[in-house]
Amino acid sequence: MGLKKIKDNVFWAGAVDWNRRLFDSLIPIPDGTTYNAYLIYGKDKTILLDTVDPSMTHMLMDNLKEIKNIDFIISHHAEQDHSGSIPAVLEKYGNAKVVTSLKGKPMLIDHLHISDNRIVTVEDGAKLELGGKTLEFIYTPWVHWPETMVSYLHEDKILFTCDLFGSHLSTSGLYCKEEWKVSEAAKRYYAEVMMPFRTNIKKHLERLAKYNTEIIAPSHGPLYNNPEWILKSHAKWVSDDVSNKVIIPYVSMHGSTQLLVDHLTDALAAQGIQVEKFDLTVTDLGKLAIALVDTATMVIGSPTVLTGAHPIVISAAFLANALRPKLKFASIIGSFGWGGKMIEDIQKTIPNLKVQMLEPVLIKGKPDAQAYIAVERLAQEIATKHRELNIL
Ligand SMILES: Cc1cc2nc3c(=O)[nH]c(=O)nc-3n(C[C@H](O)[C@H](O)[C@H](O)COP(=O)(O)O)c2cc1C
Ligand SMILES: [Fe+2]
Ligand SMILES: [Fe+2]
Repeated sequence: MGLKKIKDNVFWAGAVDWNRRLFDSLIPIPDGTTYNAYLIYGKDKTILLDTVDPSMTHMLMDNLKEIKNIDFIISHHAEQDHSGSIPAVLEKYGNAKVVTSLKGKPMLIDHLHISDNRIVTVEDGAKLELGGKTLEFIYTPWVHWPETMVSYLHEDKILFTCDLFGSHLSTSGLYCKEEWKVSEAAKRYYAEVMMPFRTNIKKHLERLAKYNTEIIAPSHGPLYNNPEWILKSHAKWVSDDVSNKVIIPYVSMHGSTQLLVDHLTDALAAQGIQVEKFDLTVTDLGKLAIALVDTATMVIGSPTVLTGAHPIVISAAFLANALRPKLKFASIIGSFGWGGKMIEDIQKTIPNLKVQMLEPVLIKGKPDAQAYIAVERLAQEIATKHRELNIL
């Protein structure tokens, strides 16, 4: 790939993973991803900011092949997709030290077995003088893990944010001119990685707004040379505002739950509410996560299977619970043959969702006229709740 110039003596030195399709063995990434490492030359010191996923160490080392000396490797985040190639860089540059946060040091030792004497720690607000370039470290705990920090290069007004503001999007250039593409990828990324830490991120955004930033350089996806819109998008996502939308993740084996879901969709649409349905047997879980970012209400649909909810529904409900979206209302609809605890099963899976539960609709077998009336009642109740929130 080679180095790509961002500013004088500031270069991108990362790797583009065009073909990766799954992250953390969980989340689909349809557009691949990048692991962005950066190289900064000061008059006195040369530093590398983060590294790349271990699967692409060879690409990073190829980018560094002409570089004779590296003084410091900045490790913003100990997760392996950024730290995984640090051992290879330390091996090549025998005098290099890793610079990380106080909490980062033991994590780098645990995860990568880096020796203690190759790591130096920096406090929040510390500055590293490189000679004509000054890098300031800003602690941002829980911008994925507890040790995470970002850094700001004063002279060039670049904010290096590691996972924050990232997107899983492969590009051949530094920037992506197709804003809609980055917009969807960044929202997917926020949903999957950052949403559980919404309240922390809200505080970090306020602090980071004080820096005069011209370029945001995250560790996944394209850089932003017009950072305003990505900052604005994040401010909206972390806010308490929800939209007039209902999402319906569901599974149906023989079509009865499907009939309920379809009827509910029509009834909600007739009330002026936007609906997104996700048949969980075929859906991209990333799309469900995106929808969870700002939706007001979720209705989960499931048949009864071996006395409980369908396992695929439980898995999606478990994920939604872990992502802690700002949903306000939830309900459950579904069908059974002879008995079971489908509703309780789902309710037990979502304790983190601080939602008001609306009366579920549970029917025996295929829905009849009465079942459809119950579904319409649920749609009406959701509309009333949305009106109370002033979003309908
Ligand atoms: C594998 C399997 C297991 C089932 N287990 C139960 C059960 O434990 N309790 C029950 O009431 N119904 C059970 N049923 C019946 C379904 O819940 C019932 O057919 C329901 O109407 C299916 O809804 P659907 O058409 O949306 O798939 C089971 C059905 C299947 C296929
Ligand atoms: Fe991470
Ligand atoms: Fe990452």
